[in-house]
Amino acid sequence: MSNRDNENFEPKIVAFLCKWCAYSGADLAGVSRLEYPPNVIPILVPCSGKVDMQFILKAFKEGADGVFIGGCHTPNDCHYISGNYKALKRFTLMRKYLEQLGINSKRIRLEWISATEGVKFAKVMKEFVEEIKKLGPLQTR
Ligand code: FES
Repeated sequence: MSNRDNENFEPKIVAFLCKWCAYSGADLAGVSRLEYPPNVIPILVPCSGKVDMQFILKAFKEGADGVFIGGCHTPNDCHYISGNYKALKRFTLMRKYLEQLGINSKRIRLEWISATEGVKFAKVMKEFVEEIKKLGPLQTR
């Protein structure tokens, strides 16, 4: 039975994680041996503000069922000052655009995760994978 069948559906999650915060949070979760689903494919990006719509569409086109963006908490935490603010503004537009394409906007999620928040990273990934499991496989492929 394929993992694309609904009952045994294991979603593929692409996670764009900023180098300075969220990626380090994911790393800490791993080093701390915190459990989170193996469905997550982490992709290191310099800043959450670098993730644009092309990244999201490419991830979905290449098999992702959900896309996660993780960045630093506040504008002052962002290594590039306002990259995460840009990410937040862009995220709102991304969600609207995905809905127009017929893709449930719950398939993308944005969270601020610091380098010390391994526990939060693991928790958010568990939640997101569960959410995507409820939605089922992305049917646009
Ligand atoms: Fe982390 Fe900009 S460097 S969000």
